[in-house]
Amino acid sequence: MSFDRTLKIAPSILSADFANFGREIEAIEAQGADWVHVDVMDGHFVPNLTFGPQLCRAIRPHIKTVMDVHLMIAPVDPYIEAYADAGADVITAHIEAGPHIHRTLQAIRATGAKAGVALNPGTPADAVAHLLDLCDLVCVMTVNPGFGGQSFIDMTDKVRQLRAMIGDRPIHIEIDGGMDPKTAPLMTAAGADVLVAGSAVFKGGSVTTPEVYGANMKAIRDAVTG
Ligand code: DX5
Ligand code: ZN
Repeated sequence: MSFDRTLKIAPSILSADFANFGREIEAIEAQGADWVHVDVMDGHFVPNLTFGPQLCRAIRPHIKTVMDVHLMIAPVDPYIEAYADAGADVITAHIEAGPHIHRTLQAIRATGAKAGVALNPGTPADAVAHLLDLCDLVCVMTVNPGFGGQSFIDMTDKVRQLRAMIGDRPIHIEIDGGMDPKTAPLMTAAGADVLVAGSAVFKGGSVTTPEVYGANMKAIRDAVTG
């Protein structure tokens, strides 16, 4: 995985047809998705349950781009290796998920995966000040994690602060939650380069009408690039 700050759209398969992940992934990639975002929820750190490592392993052969695994679980450390073995390129853990995020990021990097740290809306940018040398991505949540389709919570100031803190370091800023053609430009203008979008990408389309996914992603890209 090489680093750059060009815009990347990462559809969240939380909004895909759960009976059809392989074809859904192939459809979004054929329509121009840059990364594939996989939302892992444990029914404890967040009030919803989704994908285990076996599901990730099963869908991995269908992903040609980047498998971006967002762990909304606590504890995190006992599961890192399983998600890395399942083929995750990026593994993101929440700073709020336990007392030892520093150790967690080291453990993610030790597997060879890129390490991400996610911040809930209530967590300030400063919380990552002593973690930046250990991470490849900072994920700014613009909803409270747990569900797709929630309303955007404006985190423009936080993204701006993070962008300044990051400077020249090769660290992505990812935004997760409520991204659509209206909200996405606010976040990229503030310094984000990876936009996770679930409902705004999958709405109105299906594997038999994949061009809708393409049009939905193009609407976000056009809104950002003007
Ligand atoms: C929220 C998840 C998001 C979510 C985004 O807990 O982390 O990735 O699926 O969905 P939308 O784009 O519908 O807000
Ligand atoms: Zn996510």
